[in-house]
Amino acid sequence: MSRSAKIEDDAPNVARRAETDLDPKDWEAFRREAHRGLDLMIDYLSHVRRRKVWQPAPDSVRARFRAGLPQKGKPLAGLIDEFEQFILPYANGNLHPLFMGWVHGAGTPTGMVAEMLAAGLNANCGGRDHIAIEVEKQIALWLAEAFEFPRDSSGVFVTGTSMANFVAAVVARTDALGEKVRRGGLKEALQLVGYASQEAHGSIERAFEIAGIGGAYLRRLPVDRSRRMDVEALRGTIAKDRAAGLLPFLVVGSAGTVNTGSIDALDALAELCAGEDLWFHIDGAFGALCVLSPDLKPLVKGIERADSIALDFHKWLHVPYDAGFFLCRHPQVHRQTFMSTAAYLARAPRGLAAADIWPCDLGPDLSRGFRALKTWFTFEAYGVERLGDAIAQTCRVAQHLESLIEHSAVFELCAGARLNIVCFSVRGDTTGELNREVVMDLHETGVAAPSITRLEGRPVIRAAIVNHRTRAADMDAFVVAAEASVKQIRAARAGS
Ligand SMILES: Cc1ncc(COP(=O)(O)O)c(C=O)c1O
Repeated sequence: MSRSAKIEDDAPNVARRAETDLDPKDWEAFRREAHRGLDLMIDYLSHVRRRKVWQPAPDSVRARFRAGLPQKGKPLAGLIDEFEQFILPYANGNLHPLFMGWVHGAGTPTGMVAEMLAAGLNANCGGRDHIAIEVEKQIALWLAEAFEFPRDSSGVFVTGTSMANFVAAVVARTDALGEKVRRGGLKEALQLVGYASQEAHGSIERAFEIAGIGGAYLRRLPVDRSRRMDVEALRGTIAKDRAAGLLPFLVVGSAGTVNTGSIDALDALAELCAGEDLWFHIDGAFGALCVLSPDLKPLVKGIERADSIALDFHKWLHVPYDAGFFLCRHPQVHRQTFMSTAAYLARAPRGLAAADIWPCDLGPDLSRGFRALKTWFTFEAYGVERLGDAIAQTCRVAQHLESLIEHSAVFELCAGARLNIVCFSVRGDTTGELNREVVMDLHETGVAAPSITRLEGRPVIRAAIVNHRTRAADMDAFVVAAEASVKQIRAARAGS
């Protein structure tokens, strides 16, 4: 069979139809509907405080999302109506000032507009020579400036800090074992071993699992009274691991732990890593951005000595989800870890395929969106001073909450506001069962959304003040509502 005949045999049998596209037939009608969608969201944002923090979607609403594949399209107007009816009221709630669960950013109206513009442009930021890539490089430059890293540090947007921690683990792996590990794997190498505190985020252990190093080879070190990694214990564990023939390669310091916001002694860790020739990575998911506030910056002293930093713009900077970032002091090792020689990614001396470093050389993603635009808009629109102030304000609000808890007859403090997180418990609730009930009640009444974590094995109530909209008066209302909830639960138990 000739080659051309073979190609024809393989060609799909597509019926001939009039040519068409997916653009609106009537651009002016589309414009009106699009503006209505934007107005809807502006109204929502400007009135967010008046809504419940959260409410569960009823079954009838969930049923809307069990439908079959739509064969025919609908007008945009109808979809915006459905969005308003079925989606808007049942969101996660993190825009609300009384959302204090986990570590969620609150977004900004400016970020929303930037996200819409980016979607309009629909840039693929995996690579090539176009302006979106320059915007991403600008963010890396700004971070290098903020963290006092060298100007030629490399950086890449990823989904979030979980992914940035994974990128750190594999870059540090390349640093320890050389580029050959990419093809040869870990079989021939000494067993790598890394270190983080017991309070470090679970994504680090997961990174070890996915990178093939093994979760058991992330040593979880004890913490001191301030929940910071015990540096002497770290030193001893490294020595033991070396004596056992393992290959220590990475220390992960936390700049703001997820449970309590504690910050490891970053300077001391940097010193130790320099002496032991270990890669020093910092998980600074939210806390790294303390550098933007002159009041908070001293808390993260030593961050400027890290080999790499993972952080999120979608947390304390309120860039719309998602916007994680990995910053690396060693661009060469970073590139060696991810660069591909695939023919379809070849660089050209001129034209769209020019430019030697593409973002796909710096992380696992090839196709990727224009996360840099909403981050650039956020920095440009608000400026570092205002953003830093908003961050510092959340810490002041957390201090106010701490003092309310200290004066409460119902609650006791479990972890005070090191940064923006306060953990507390119903007095005498040794099992944490009441704490869990209170949190669920607050969620279901839509009054506030703290979350639960475990401290010293006990479930406790955790309030992470991340939201730029949260005020001290919100904490007054929160504590009143939480105390009332305890009273109600006790009354119901006494009555049953
Ligand atoms: C300290 C810390 N590290 C890592 C993460 C994971 O970040 P992400 O959810 O953006 O993947 C979080 C999330 O809250 C965190 O607080």
